[in-house]
Amino acid sequence: MITFENVVKQYPNGFRAVDGLSLEVAPGEICVFIGPSGCGKTTTMRMVNRLISVSSGRILVEGRDNRDIPAEELRRKIGYAIQQIGLFPHMTIYENVAVVPHLLGWEESRIRSQVDRLLELVGLDPDEQRDKYPRQLSGGQQQRVGVARALGADPPIMLMDEPFGAIDPITREVLQDEFLQIQKEISKTIIFVTHDIDEAIKMGDRIAILREGRIVQFDTPDTILAHPKNNFVRDFVGADRALKRLGLVRINEVMDTDPPMVAYEAKIEEARNIIQKRKLRSAFVVDRDGRLRGWVDKEAAERETSLTEAMAEVPYSDIAVRQNATVRDALSAMVTRSFRITPVVDSKGKLVGSISLRSLQELVERDDSEASEVSP
Ligand SMILES: Nc1ncnc2c1ncn2[C@@H]1O[C@H](COP(=O)(O)OP(=O)(O)O)[C@@H](O)[C@H]1O
Ligand SMILES: [Mg+2]
Repeated sequence: MITFENVVKQYPNGFRAVDGLSLEVAPGEICVFIGPSGCGKTTTMRMVNRLISVSSGRILVEGRDNRDIPAEELRRKIGYAIQQIGLFPHMTIYENVAVVPHLLGWEESRIRSQVDRLLELVGLDPDEQRDKYPRQLSGGQQQRVGVARALGADPPIMLMDEPFGAIDPITREVLQDEFLQIQKEISKTIIFVTHDIDEAIKMGDRIAILREGRIVQFDTPDTILAHPKNNFVRDFVGADRALKRLGLVRINEVMDTDPPMVAYEAKIEEARNIIQKRKLRSAFVVDRDGRLRGWVDKEAAERETSLTEAMAEVPYSDIAVRQNATVRDALSAMVTRSFRITPVVDSKGKLVGSISLRSLQELVERDDSEASEVSP
């Protein structure tokens, strides 16, 4: 979809900001560019939509040299969102989002429905927001308008240069989640620039790590975390990469799907048996629909005469993790509640598995041993 072939950008003062970069961005993927400040991320991106010219090499957009594509067509094909948002302060939200469709000469009625659709897509109520001015919106809302504007003419390609960089961390996470949700629907081909490794890991299908105008490693987040190519990448992703990697694994990929469970109506002996047979310290208690009602631990099961007396009855949301959460979430839940085994539930609270501290340890250790087979 976007191909960089040996691309060089040399500025008039002789400085090579981009130095022989080759890379292919596949259709529908989010390709993240990351690297230290000044490594050439913005320059590389701006050469795609020709805001900056290429010194040598070439960039193909949908198979065509981008120098052969008329400027207007490039504008239509490529949406551009930047950190400073760049909303026009004297234009309404409507006018801001409508900029590119206007340039392209769309009919007013078509623009109107497109703007409403885009505002809804980014989580803004069109009726409430369209006639406001940027300063009347919060930073997070303005950023959403920036994304809506970049999507203005429904381009197949998006360039996003630190789009959430100026936003507070909590709002940034919300925007990241929302954007990933939107991307599931719209499947754009995206180059996403960031200097935040956590953002890169979360947003990227693949990550290109840049240094001094060159690519050091281009791989999936998981591969980069598990197999950093050299010390530069290793330092860049940080010492806690094993932990970060846990953030990529879903609980249902690694959980034990046969959790120790006993029915709420069962006799206490049944709980004792399960705990003894499986050499556990506790078992989970479920109702008729398989929903988690609480747990019973070994001492209580041996001491009490009925399960209802022995068990701790608690809302499942207090003790369980969702199966589609990440293993990192499970770990933090275990640490906060000091559980050795945490129950895993589906969206309705049905017990579908369990995950133990030991299995997480094994996962981390396995990653570590894989990752240490790395050349310096
Ligand atoms: N017009 C210019 N002339 C000379 N050097 C430039 C010019 N524009 C940018 N640079 C340099 O090119 C390098 C890459 O810049 P940039 O692509 O903006 O980096 P990044 O986005 O990765 O922080 C930087 O060292 C910057 O100082
Ligand atoms: Mg930059």
